[in-house]
Amino acid sequence: MPTDAPDVPDQLNIIDATPLDMLASRRSVLAAQLIEPGPQPEELDRMLDVAVRVPDHGRMTPWRLQVICKEAQAELGELFVDEFRKTEPDAKNDRLELERVRPQRAPVLVVVSSRITPDRDGVPPVEQLLSCGNVCFNLLHAATAMGYGAQWVTNWPSYNAAVKAALSIPDEEHLVGFVHIGTPKGPPSERQRPETASVVSRVESLAAIA
Ligand SMILES: Cc1cc2nc3c(=O)[nH]c(=O)nc-3n(C[C@H](O)[C@H](O)[C@H](O)COP(=O)(O)O)c2cc1C
Repeated sequence: MPTDAPDVPDQLNIIDATPLDMLASRRSVLAAQLIEPGPQPEELDRMLDVAVRVPDHGRMTPWRLQVICKEAQAELGELFVDEFRKTEPDAKNDRLELERVRPQRAPVLVVVSSRITPDRDGVPPVEQLLSCGNVCFNLLHAATAMGYGAQWVTNWPSYNAAVKAALSIPDEEHLVGFVHIGTPKGPPSERQRPETASVVSRVESLAAIA
């Protein structure tokens, strides 16, 4: 049964926490709850350095990161509206406005996408994609460790051909995440987490689980 995490420290004071406290308490802050100031350019550089320090079988570097600056965020918002209209021509203005704002909700937006080598012996595409997911997660960690909030989202734009094309992400690659970063408006709410024992088992011998 899911439980609320016990003794979760205040994420806003995370800089004073031990590394283990930070890992045990990290949680996303909804993009709409992320306000200015965002990370300064040198802080963002540091964050990105940390983000790409991930397990990467075969040193393939199967990921790319794009910092989407304000003007490009606005352009992306217009594209989201245009693409959304194609699937929902009768969409009301407030729904379209939501799409326009979607990529502009937080001060900083980083797009993480894959660059997968399909025929690399011993490193199947799924491993390269996993490494890419690690980059997104590590970016959340780095942002949190520096006192910012962050959220990794995908939603329909990650799977939209025009959005990928506008970002020069090849058709066969994945737009793995939009990572929004900024200052949390307030302490983020905790979500229910699974009881660890419900997903962990101890394997004493293979015969015992057969
Ligand atoms: C690949 C991926 C895509 C996600 N896309 C969305 C999304 O589009 N919208 C959303 O609200 N949350 C999305 N989430 C969930 C949030 O990133 C996050 O996991 C959740 O809000 C809280 O989890 P946390 O506090 O452990 O980070 C996604 C998560 C993953 C791993």
